[in-house]
Amino acid sequence: MSTDDRVIIFDTTMRDGEQSPGASMNLEEKLRIAEVLERMGVDVIEAGFAIASAGDFEAIREISKLVKDSTVCSLARAARGDIDRSAEALKPAARKRIHTFIATSPLHMKHKLRMGPEQVLEAVIDSVTYARKLCDDVEWSCEDGSRSEHDFLCRTVESAIECGARTINIPDTVGYTLPEEFAALITMLLNRVPNIDKAIISVHCHNDLGLAVANSLAAVGAGARQIECTINGLGERAGNAAMEEIVMALRTRHDSMPYTTGIKTEHIMKASRLVAAITGFVVQPNKAIVGANAFAHEAGIHQDGMLKHAGTYEIMTPESVGLVKSTLVMGKHSGRHAFRRKLEELGYELGDNALQEAFHRFKSLADKKKEIFDEDIVALVDDEVAHGLDLIRFASLHVICGSTGPQQATLTLEVDGEERSTTATGNGPVDATFNAISELFPHQARLSLYQVHAVTGGTDAQAEVTVRLVENDRTVNGHGADTDTLVASARAYVNALNKLLLKRERTAPAAISA
Ligand code: KIV
Ligand code: ZN
Repeated sequence: MSTDDRVIIFDTTMRDGEQSPGASMNLEEKLRIAEVLERMGVDVIEAGFAIASAGDFEAIREISKLVKDSTVCSLARAARGDIDRSAEALKPAARKRIHTFIATSPLHMKHKLRMGPEQVLEAVIDSVTYARKLCDDVEWSCEDGSRSEHDFLCRTVESAIECGARTINIPDTVGYTLPEEFAALITMLLNRVPNIDKAIISVHCHNDLGLAVANSLAAVGAGARQIECTINGLGERAGNAAMEEIVMALRTRHDSMPYTTGIKTEHIMKASRLVAAITGFVVQPNKAIVGANAFAHEAGIHQDGMLKHAGTYEIMTPESVGLVKSTLVMGKHSGRHAFRRKLEELGYELGDNALQEAFHRFKSLADKKKEIFDEDIVALVDDEVAHGLDLIRFASLHVICGSTGPQQATLTLEVDGEERSTTATGNGPVDATFNAISELFPHQARLSLYQVHAVTGGTDAQAEVTVRLVENDRTVNGHGADTDTLVASARAYVNALNKLLLKRERTAPAAISA
């Protein structure tokens, strides 16, 4: 295989993805995502925007210590302070990259930067030269590149390469371009920039018109060899190109797109579930590759075809994206050994204490629920991991509700090892439960999202609840799972409060333009 056919996968779930309003991730969650990304074979992990906040800096630093195979990257504006901060955060990384950017379109230069083209060109030269003194691997991006004037774009790209950028990223920042236009832009750069052979062309497409994946693939057809993307297509506004779609399109249509990636596609589902669970951004059922219906066949005629030959309606196998057909059926008679094996099958490795706790909860779930599906175990383990560091812990809840109010919740929490109980009323059982939490642990946070999702079918399904709390500039997502929706709600709210307590003072990355 020619190395020219290898497409570098650059994941920006934790940088551009985290810039989606509400998609905040704490350090422990980012480390879990980084681990999964590395295991799935992602080439470059953009771990954050070091200057944006203490939280981003710490996340980049800790991910740099953890990750060995993937390159860890930090974003930096075209400013020495940003670049210094990135270099500092990346210090422990085995492989590191500084990604510096500045806008090059007339609109952005005039209205956002208030800089003329010559000043922007100077900033490109200074920032890339400076970054190269601190890091061998420098990527340069022309923000709003797809709406930039071609002559100016060529000059900036040529200068960035001359100053040592090894990767030149062309973003379609506002998701405006059409596939053929974007391919033509890449061809234009390849034809006109004299030193373009010294760099890899990358693309970074937003999905405002639903074309991010199509634009990225068209760019690869024209010669780009790095795609910037996110799990589940998370990202600013309508999101970025979805990694799972890009990778599976390249794999499934290798006949007409003969390019390869280093992604072990069997890890896709795990990464998708993890990012959805952490951010509370639920994947729509009909989402390509990772939606719940992506491999479901309901219509009789389709089922008949599938039974005769899976290829009739399936262009890729569920196994290829990590939807494993379970070999172990779990129930209330399953022992600890089988439970551990099931977790391994699902891709989890828990320490002894977490395993013990998860097994305990599995047994109590199996007492309540007739059939235990893999999704139940995933929800239960994710819940256990999410609550591992909680300082405030849910103990018990009794609710009185029905058509005649007031609804009432009697709640016990453990705060700093001490049990506190109260009874509160509210406009419905959820409101009563949340009021009880506020009585036991007064706080100023505002509830900005309350979301309930059934893990499986059936009336005995576990509810997976996401609660998003906002306090000052800080946003956190809490999670809880239980067969009782109100218990899951209380656990999710308490988890969010715990995260607020743990979260350091940080500036939202969105406050700094990227
Ligand atoms: O969309 C964009 O232009 C970006 C750059 C910072 C790469 O996110
Ligand atoms: Zn972007």
